[in-house]
Amino acid sequence: MKAIKLSEGIYWVGAIDWDLRNFHGYLTQRGSTYNAYLIIDEKITLIDNVKSYLYDEMIARISDIIEPSKIDILIQNHVEMDHSGGLPQLLKLIPNTELYTNAAGIKGLKLHYKQDWNFKEIKSGDSISIGKRTLSFLTTPMVHWPDNQFTYCPEDGILFSNDGFGQHIASSERLASELPIGIVLEEAKKYYANIVLPYSKQVQKVLDAAATLSIKMICPSHGLIWTEENIPLILAEYKNWAYSVSDKHSALVIYDTMWKSTQMMAHAIHETFEKLGIHSKLLNLQATHISDIMTDIISAKFIAVGSPTLNSSILPTVAAFIYYLKGLSPKDRIGLAFGSYGWGGQSIPILQQLMGDPKECGFDMLEPLKLQYIPSAEDLATMKENLEQQIKTKLEEQ
Ligand code: FEO
Repeated sequence: MKAIKLSEGIYWVGAIDWDLRNFHGYLTQRGSTYNAYLIIDEKITLIDNVKSYLYDEMIARISDIIEPSKIDILIQNHVEMDHSGGLPQLLKLIPNTELYTNAAGIKGLKLHYKQDWNFKEIKSGDSISIGKRTLSFLTTPMVHWPDNQFTYCPEDGILFSNDGFGQHIASSERLASELPIGIVLEEAKKYYANIVLPYSKQVQKVLDAAATLSIKMICPSHGLIWTEENIPLILAEYKNWAYSVSDKHSALVIYDTMWKSTQMMAHAIHETFEKLGIHSKLLNLQATHISDIMTDIISAKFIAVGSPTLNSSILPTVAAFIYYLKGLSPKDRIGLAFGSYGWGGQSIPILQQLMGDPKECGFDMLEPLKLQYIPSAEDLATMKENLEQQIKTKLEEQ
């Protein structure tokens, strides 16, 4: 296991989780990495850590450069166990090592590991000298937990951003420029949609703070490292995502179906959007993972969700999706509830409430669409005319 040199005296010493396919419900088709960074200076510094089961891999990479027992300082930018799981083992090896993090980090680490390590509390704006270099701290609460912070090294222009700007990609490459940039940006978008989206207001503040720094490299804790040629790209994308910039010419039609009647409606709704020049994507919940749908939701203005009525309610797949969506809390979207039914038709008002109530998703809702049993060609044509008028009216209001 080799360390990867990023600049003079700074190395990537993380671990690659090639097999990871589920990160608390998020489908990680490409695996992930947990990035730790070693700085060789007067005080040898390790920034962040790895999952406990990959500790040996991190130690092997550190050992490629120095004896791990020579580490003088630990910086912990986040408590979550994908970045702290190896700490208990490491601190058995170097028990009195200073561990720098913020108050929420100290509290979280104590609650996780029940250890009174040699914590050094930092506040946002504090700096420490490790020799030729300075490390400055910027707390970034809720990007992704209350304890998150960035560490910035001005001499090298490197921002160690932990979960910020990350992507779940396992690869032998370390730099975003070494892979097709579309793949890295797509995975960064998926990561934002499934992990960071609820905290977009905090991201706005982070972007303002980052704009005051001279940054040559952004080193996140997952996936590929951003270098000068692609930093403007990822910062511009983060700005769009954080400010909820969606495309009013983009729609998603998300549904599950029982006897294909709701599916017939979904196709008719899709055709209506396309007729109006609104790019539309059909997403059947039996075929598409909810974490992939979230990636599309980042940029679509119109969100249509359909379910037939089952047991006076909605289908379980649709319920799981709506609750996931609500938790991730995209803003300023136009919603449409639809579905077929046999007699009660409860799925449609339930969807309308779950999507439109300000205490739920809080979308600006179109009038719902429902059809009984198997839609006829005439039913679908009438529904399309109704929807077309609704969409035109809504677009005029925008
Ligand atoms: Fe990658 Fe919030 O941990």
